[in-house]
Amino acid sequence: MEVWVSYLADVCMFLAVLFGGLCISHILQKIVKTFYTLVISIAFLAIMFKRIFNTFTRDMAIDLGTANTLLYVKGKGIVLNEPSVVAVTSVDGKYKVLAVGNEAKLMLGRTPGHIKAIRPMKDGVIADFDIAEAMIKHFIGKVHNRGILIHPRIAICVPYGATHVERRAIQESAESAGAREAYLVEEPMAAAIGANLPITEPVGSVIVDIGGGTTEVAVISLGGIVYAKSIRVGGDIMDSEIISYMKSKFNLLIGETTAEDVKKTIGTAIYDESYEKETMIIKGRSTIDGHPKNVKVTKGQIAKALAPCVNTIAYSVKEALESTPPELISDIIDRGITITGGGALLNCIGDAITNTTNVKTNIAENPLQCVAIGTGQSLSYIGKLGYAVLKAY
Ligand SMILES: Nc1ncnc2c1ncn2[C@@H]1O[C@H](COP(=O)(O)OP(=O)(O)OP(=O)(O)O)[C@@H](O)[C@H]1O
Ligand SMILES: [Mg+2]
Repeated sequence: MEVWVSYLADVCMFLAVLFGGLCISHILQKIVKTFYTLVISIAFLAIMFKRIFNTFTRDMAIDLGTANTLLYVKGKGIVLNEPSVVAVTSVDGKYKVLAVGNEAKLMLGRTPGHIKAIRPMKDGVIADFDIAEAMIKHFIGKVHNRGILIHPRIAICVPYGATHVERRAIQESAESAGAREAYLVEEPMAAAIGANLPITEPVGSVIVDIGGGTTEVAVISLGGIVYAKSIRVGGDIMDSEIISYMKSKFNLLIGETTAEDVKKTIGTAIYDESYEKETMIIKGRSTIDGHPKNVKVTKGQIAKALAPCVNTIAYSVKEALESTPPELISDIIDRGITITGGGALLNCIGDAITNTTNVKTNIAENPLQCVAIGTGQSLSYIGKLGYAVLKAY
């Protein structure tokens, strides 16, 4: 009997151990499974978080130009390029934005009384803070909607001669438009970086950025600006000169958009007698009887109208060379002067500068985009370029 009881106890013991083992292995299996699930989830979350964080920290640059605003995103290039124009209407004494950029530019000079098409930038700086801020917010929002960035680190360029107050206004507008950090970059430095000039090397490079509102001339060497000057002469004044010329010579009233079109179509920086044979029909309104009127102008006549602006630009480059240390001049003679900005596209502008300075010129690749690209790339120079890339306030 005792033997049986002992056997039974052994069997029970065996079953208990077997069952216990099975339970333990089941529990262990569960633990291991949970552990693996946890590790995989953490890894997945880390990857997701890294991706989100990368989006979150993606650098962005704004070229807030008098004529055009460009947005550049690191790794994506230029993501927006639109005219710096905002169309507004007044509701209860407050402005309501109707259109921004391309859409608003179409309205320039064509708006009914209650709508105004405003250019918030003048001479490269903010002339109307509220409108500029609305414009920047709209453009950043447009890019943001495409899922490209959230609270980016923004670099924004300022003309070389911008005052403390003007710089502050530009930085504040970027910050209130959603920038996590806003850096200001000197425009000639940005243009030089965008034009791939060897700015950090001990050689002299000359950059001439002819924009809508300003022309910036700078001599750069070893990551610093050796000489720079910003003159408030650019594409806008060229357009005004064409408007004045048409008025005084032909009693014809034309708008800014028509004048710009004439400049882009037959404008040239150098006069040549053969240009008297090339003509363009310009439509406007007679200043005498108010009737619509067509006038035939020659390329030579437009060259004469543009001559004062072109000379001012060319002489400011000459002045820069005269103020440059002689050691750098030899580099400049070898390497030439690089021209960027929309004005670089004016027919023969390089030749006009060469005629005045006796130094060869090169038009940068993508002259309209150099400043935006260079502003974006300048973020990677923080700490290396000293005062050229600034965290202003
Ligand atoms: N083909 C062309 N010929 C002459 N001028 C041109 C041509 N294309 C564009 N432009 C002019 O270039 C100017 C715009 O250049 P850009 O975009 O570099 O100026 P911006 O950066 O807006 O101005 P800024 O730098 O002064 O603030 C306009 O005045 C435009 O009329
Ligand atoms: Mg510009």
